[in-house]
Amino acid sequence: MIEKMKESCLPVGIDGICVATGSFVLDLHDMAQYRNEDAQKYTRGLGQYHMSVCAQDEDIVTMAASAAYPLIKNSTEGIRTLLFATESSIDQSKAAGLWVHKLLNLGQDCRVVELKQACYSATAALRLACSHVQAFPEEKVLVIASDIARYELDSVAEPTEGCGAVAILISANPRIIKVGSVSGIYSEDVMDFWRPNYRTCAIVDGKYSTKIYLKSLKLAFGDYLQRGGLELDRFKGFCFHTPFAKMALKAYQTLKGSLDSLDEKILEPALKYSRTLGNCYTAALYIGLASLLDSGSLAAHDKVAMFSYGSGCVSEFFHLELVPGFEKWLCSRLHQERLVQRKQLSYEQYRQWHQWQVPQDGHLHYFAKNIESGYRLRGVEDHKRLYEHVMNS
Ligand code: CAA
Repeated sequence: MIEKMKESCLPVGIDGICVATGSFVLDLHDMAQYRNEDAQKYTRGLGQYHMSVCAQDEDIVTMAASAAYPLIKNSTEGIRTLLFATESSIDQSKAAGLWVHKLLNLGQDCRVVELKQACYSATAALRLACSHVQAFPEEKVLVIASDIARYELDSVAEPTEGCGAVAILISANPRIIKVGSVSGIYSEDVMDFWRPNYRTCAIVDGKYSTKIYLKSLKLAFGDYLQRGGLELDRFKGFCFHTPFAKMALKAYQTLKGSLDSLDEKILEPALKYSRTLGNCYTAALYIGLASLLDSGSLAAHDKVAMFSYGSGCVSEFFHLELVPGFEKWLCSRLHQERLVQRKQLSYEQYRQWHQWQVPQDGHLHYFAKNIESGYRLRGVEDHKRLYEHVMNS
């Protein structure tokens, strides 16, 4: 009976999952050269090789729309809620999801809300979506997490920057993965990473943040076990919130008490995208899940451990269970294309873009066209962002 409870998953879960990122990529070797540092500090020390970069005509809305479009292009039926998770808000009042709602032509009978709690809010959105679909099984919820990780130039955190979005369709009888009913939670008021409203870059107490992350993991996992969760040896895959790939290895080592090369092999499939995209804040955990699913290393009924961490801090440990035939519904090929098609950016160009900000004078400004097709931020006028969908010519 207890065993049965441990196994139990909600009758809802992920019916579609798709990732998008910025159209440019920076090689961390170039950053190391500029900073006169050993590149191995980034590749081996942090586990990062590249970072995705958004052009001036891209932002959290354009990435979000690109992530969601493949999931809704054939049908928007049943989608009555869009939950947008981000910590790179573009407006203090209006939900970024409303621009996405328009770009995707979602129905006017679809509610739209933005959620915030650092990198954790995508998991809050997933939980709310699952509860909603349990109550209204004929409805679907589109969860989108989209972020641009930005730190001060020349700071120790700079090599962990990145950007990306993930869209997740939550439904009853999901085609990809069911969400486990048990979850362990740990929250505490701490100042490890934050961004006051007047700042464009986050402030981070880096070493402290890694300590709080690991403390939260231990306590959230303890809570998960106490509530009837599964032991570690039951999982075939692991997704930890990944601010940089090495953090996931430290997380696993903390839970298991050791880390050998076999463990690293088990963790690697979930880290592949992260190593080249960089930190994607709210989207990072679920981009890790997409990376793991796309890797082909899992089979039907396998269970995946998930650890969500949002600085400040709130964390949650839970599990997922793969549905037979899940492979057919993945966007694996599109993900590969999106990664490969990114254009190389020089470090000098990256620094210029880093310092650029959307003009705040209220006049009309059109932005340089860096995006040839897809969703783009055309400019601003009267303090309003102007978006467009550029079709392939
Ligand atoms: N060759 C190989 N490895 C090297 C090396 C070299 N030449 N030089 C250093 N290293 C190794 C170090 O030994 C160290 O490894 P271990 O951690 O395994 O000991 C690693 O590289 C990092 O080096 P440092 O300890 O010198 O740390 P750093 O100054 O590079 O800073 C950091 C690392 C604090 C994580 C910094 O990148 C940072 O502030 N990042 C942003 C904050 C962050 O991501 N926090 C994570 C938890 S909070 C969270 O998860 C929320 C979120 O998304 C932000």
